[in-house]
Amino acid sequence: MTVTPKGFAGELRTSPVSHATITGIGGYRPKRVVPNSEIVERIDSSDEWVRERSGIIERRFAGEGESVVDMSVFATEPALAMAGIEAGQLDAVIVATVSWPYQTPAAAPMIAERLGSKAAAFDISAACAGYCHAVSLATDMVRAGTAQHVLVVGVERLSDFTSPDDRGTAFIFADGAGAAVVSRSESPGIGPTVWGSDGAQWEAISQTESWIDVHEKNLGWPHIGMAGQTVFRWAVWGMAPVARKAMDAAGVTVDQLDAFIPHQANVRIVDAMAKQLGLPADLPIARDIAYTGNTSAASIPLAMERMVRHGEIPSGGLALQIGFGAGLSYAAQVVVIP
Ligand code: UT7
Repeated sequence: MTVTPKGFAGELRTSPVSHATITGIGGYRPKRVVPNSEIVERIDSSDEWVRERSGIIERRFAGEGESVVDMSVFATEPALAMAGIEAGQLDAVIVATVSWPYQTPAAAPMIAERLGSKAAAFDISAACAGYCHAVSLATDMVRAGTAQHVLVVGVERLSDFTSPDDRGTAFIFADGAGAAVVSRSESPGIGPTVWGSDGAQWEAISQTESWIDVHEKNLGWPHIGMAGQTVFRWAVWGMAPVARKAMDAAGVTVDQLDAFIPHQANVRIVDAMAKQLGLPADLPIARDIAYTGNTSAASIPLAMERMVRHGEIPSGGLALQIGFGAGLSYAAQVVVIP
């Protein structure tokens, strides 16, 4: 049997294409400050080693009962205030996280509910590249007319998924949340995203066991493990060309940038990328990792929030942001600073 269409003669109605920009940014850093001295004994390390090899001086860990949802709400409130909108005006909430402890449902609907929003709400999993992936999705949603305002949250409670006895990760991972509002705008405020993945290196950063193995083999709580040197080399050599492509795609050169805000994985990676990109010596570069640690999906919005709050970077200027991590996944774009 052959079925034929009814023959709709017109064109489907769609929304006109518009521009998108970041209208608000917010961050939440848990109150509990954890200096290197609290971490190093269990991993036979030292404050000097951690500072020298990673740039981390201290990090924040969430308090007891302070969840991914709590931190996201705290980060979102100032972002909404800066954007000048109410939560009820959001059309979508995208949450980038790898440390929400439920397989389902996503954290996003609970965050939306706590904010007083009934918007479309979903999580994405792209680890330390999650925030830039979510900004890309939000931009496309706004540009295509699917949404007028999208809340993007990068949030992690990595202290739940980090073994305090793992020498390769215990001093790196930390907790926090960053939020951005992506809204319809008169002019382009978010450049094209350059992104990709290398699944051949899928095991370089990963949960130590699948949930099925954890259950069937009674393995106890899993943690995130990392082949540090492998990831370090990939980030140092692979990510500067990606950042350069994002600038080319946006039609921007290094001397037109007002900020460089890479994922806060290791201060040596930040410095190596800045060198390879030939960034001007006086360009503000995010080094939030020193006091915040590596907060994965939260690190870029947290770093931007601090730089904006301290008046280090100008509203209306251009920031190059790049996220990279487990997958291995990456995403970069040039954005106008809110
Ligand atoms: O956010 C997602 C993406 N993540 C990243 O981009 C992280 C990338 N990786 C890194 O940042 C670095 O690889 C680490 C900071 C994790 C480690 O630094 P590294 O310079 O790569 O250390 P390494 O593993 O090469 O080890 C160097 C030395 C070794 O000793 P020998 O063989 O030279 O005698 C290690 O045994 O340091 C030793 N070591 C430590 N010493 C004290 C390794 N871990 C520690 C430690 N404390 N925690």
